[in-house]
Amino acid sequence: MFRVVNFILAVIFCQWSPVNGFKATLPTLYEHYTQGGISSGLTTYPEGFLLNGKNITIVSGAIHYFRVHPEYWRARLRQLRAAGFVAVETYIPWNLHEPRSGEYDFGEGDNDFSLFLDFVKYLKVAQEEDLLAIVRPGPWIAAEWENGGLPSWLLRDPNLRPRHSNRPFIYYMNRFYDKVFPILRRLQFTEGGPIIAFQIENEYGLVGKGGSHPDTAYLQEIYQEMVKHNLTALKFTMDAPFNSYKNGSLPGVLMTANFQTDPVGQLKELKKLQPDQPLWVIESYPGWFDSWFDSQHYTMSTQASIDMTRAILEMSSSINLYMFHGGTTFGFMNGAIPNAHTPTIKFHVNSYDYDAPVTEAGDYTQKYNATAELVKQFLAVDTKLPQRPPESVKQAYGTVSYTGQLTVSQLIDQVPRADRVRAENVVAMELLDINSGSGQSYGFVVYRRKGVEVPSSSVLQITGYVHDMAVVLVDGVRETQAVTSLRQVSEFGCWQLGNGSLTLDAASSGTNKTLDILVENMGRRLSKKGLYDGDVLLNRQAIRDWEIVALQFHTKWVKSLTGWQKVSKTTGPTLFRSVLDVSTPHDTFVDMSAWGKGNVFVNGFNIGRYFSVGPTHTLYVPAPLLRKGANEILVFELYSPGPHLTFTDQPKLSN
Ligand SMILES: *[C@@H]1O[C@H](CO)[C@@H](O)[C@H](O)[C@H]1NC(C)=O
Ligand SMILES: *[C@@H]1O[C@H](CO)[C@@H](O)[C@H](O)[C@H]1NC(C)=O
Ligand SMILES: *[C@@H]1O[C@H](CO)[C@@H](O)[C@H](O)[C@H]1NC(C)=O
Ligand SMILES: *[C@@H]1O[C@H](CO)[C@@H](O)[C@H](O)[C@H]1NC(C)=O
Ligand SMILES: *[C@@H]1O[C@H](CO)[C@@H](O)[C@H](O)[C@H]1NC(C)=O
Ligand SMILES: *[C@@H]1O[C@H](CO)[C@@H](O)[C@H](O)[C@H]1NC(C)=O
Repeated sequence: MFRVVNFILAVIFCQWSPVNGFKATLPTLYEHYTQGGISSGLTTYPEGFLLNGKNITIVSGAIHYFRVHPEYWRARLRQLRAAGFVAVETYIPWNLHEPRSGEYDFGEGDNDFSLFLDFVKYLKVAQEEDLLAIVRPGPWIAAEWENGGLPSWLLRDPNLRPRHSNRPFIYYMNRFYDKVFPILRRLQFTEGGPIIAFQIENEYGLVGKGGSHPDTAYLQEIYQEMVKHNLTALKFTMDAPFNSYKNGSLPGVLMTANFQTDPVGQLKELKKLQPDQPLWVIESYPGWFDSWFDSQHYTMSTQASIDMTRAILEMSSSINLYMFHGGTTFGFMNGAIPNAHTPTIKFHVNSYDYDAPVTEAGDYTQKYNATAELVKQFLAVDTKLPQRPPESVKQAYGTVSYTGQLTVSQLIDQVPRADRVRAENVVAMELLDINSGSGQSYGFVVYRRKGVEVPSSSVLQITGYVHDMAVVLVDGVRETQAVTSLRQVSEFGCWQLGNGSLTLDAASSGTNKTLDILVENMGRRLSKKGLYDGDVLLNRQAIRDWEIVALQFHTKWVKSLTGWQKVSKTTGPTLFRSVLDVSTPHDTFVDMSAWGKGNVFVNGFNIGRYFSVGPTHTLYVPAPLLRKGANEILVFELYSPGPHLTFTDQPKLSN
């Protein structure tokens, strides 16, 4: 009888382990680390880490709240925990949280991304899912994110030097941190929250590469600002040991590593630089990101990823997988990186799938299984893990035709007066006196001149460079070719050609013509966008007196568009409208491989850019962006539209 009761109790309270049979109920992570009360946060000793005085191997994974629809936060975090991981790591993108200078948004704003910005909720969900958290508040976050997370309005101040101990930069940084740090303080482990550590800056050893001294005073500013706000959790810097040595570090602050190869050598180097501290790799890459013109979607084999993770863990190092789940860089939020070859700038695609253990759309991979299997051998303690949450249903909604259109001229006509500026000369989008003095951040800027006389064989020249791609129209007719190949990035209209010129079509000659130069910001990295290097010339005469129109495609504006016309124009730039009827909203992918280049908007929300050069050909539409019934799908096509839109249940990330 006693045995039977015990057996029943065992069934009720214990979890079945196929290896050991019944075993005593495991504690949750928080039960283990907070038992007896919290007296300390994360601390180090030469061989490892302690949390509240107990050994911990910090096996964490990066999942950015701003790259995952909030309705999927819990499922993604549970997937991380179910793989045995003990913490989630995230950056904080300043540009989203302070969209205009002095205007903050932590989820309660009325901006396109407001829905994604409640990181307090995200971190609370992480804690509910039995995860600790590591937070990297920048200010520079890199992350293949627009301007590395810095707000574009910083570029308005010619005296501002980003990422340095420069007064204007420190002023704006601290003003932002004065909003963010009090929120983060309350979320620290020692205050009953999930945060165990904060990163200071990001690969700062790379700044000043090639001679100039690392600006340690700047790192001190960030450190002091954290101290001032009682961010008492462990602080660290991160660099590649072999490339940067101690250049990005601060005396007395833990150094951590990132690298793509030679884990043993890199970690030995880190130990040499810092013998009395444990090893921690904050970015170990199970995959990589993609950029336009890459020939294929980057993939890393499960074996290679596992070998790297194992090598790191075998060195008794802690590890953060960057990314565990990449998600999506929605809207105009992709970043850019300089490149040694053509293309000289790599603009990142919107999918941030990363070939990570969990795919962009939240599906499990072989890498997930192998990673989970591996890490459990290295955890300091066995704790209770949740069931793996199920994958979402993916639906192929099929083809949808477009039935309405607005030409670019009709779009420009609907841009409010407040987003138009008159100027003698062309200027960068950031410098336009719009958005409460913060300038234009994202999208397209149109340089318009009416009443131009265009003799036949006219030549248009843009002094300097186009930042980044330009479409030229005369009386609404496109003069520039569709960009479909890498060669063209060195031709007129693209960022690689300086002082480019274009002979206008004979058919567009005449008097009283309207010239439009539509310039697209393809993703920023610390420099301004639009036309600003010098004059725009027509037949060697500088054109003056421009009307400059910010075509930002904010959700509210996109939803407000009216005057839809029957489809008649089969060339862009044109905004096409279609309606997707949905009986049950499910995750889906819109396949744009038959289209040229542009952006797709789902119920007003910009889900990203497509570009026939690839490698990415689909855009992910998470179910929460759809609703039962009619869904408005808009496509802003620059060149020539495909025959229809195709909704599929599979991503196409590779050429
Ligand atoms: C932590 O682990 C090390 C190595 O296994 C062990 O020597 C040490 O006693 C542990 N410390 C605590 C506080 O459990
Ligand atoms: C790092 O600093 C050392 C001097 O401490 C210098 O020789 C080296 O060039 C620097 N490396 C980089 C990448 O800046
Ligand atoms: C930081 O902590 C100290 C000591 O507990 C307290 O006096 C001070 O008000 C705190 N400051 C902030 C900004 O929280
Ligand atoms: C991963 O593991 C789960 C559960 O053990 C199993 O059902 C699934 O088939 C595995 N997936 C792959 C891709 O190996
Ligand atoms: C463009 O032309 C100007 C002279 O008008 C010259 O100074 C400049 O170097 C040229 N730039 C490029 C990139 O060729
Ligand atoms: C130029 O064209 C516009 C319409 O495009 C018209 O309103 C205007 O009167 C014309 N001006 C002249 C001088 O012909």
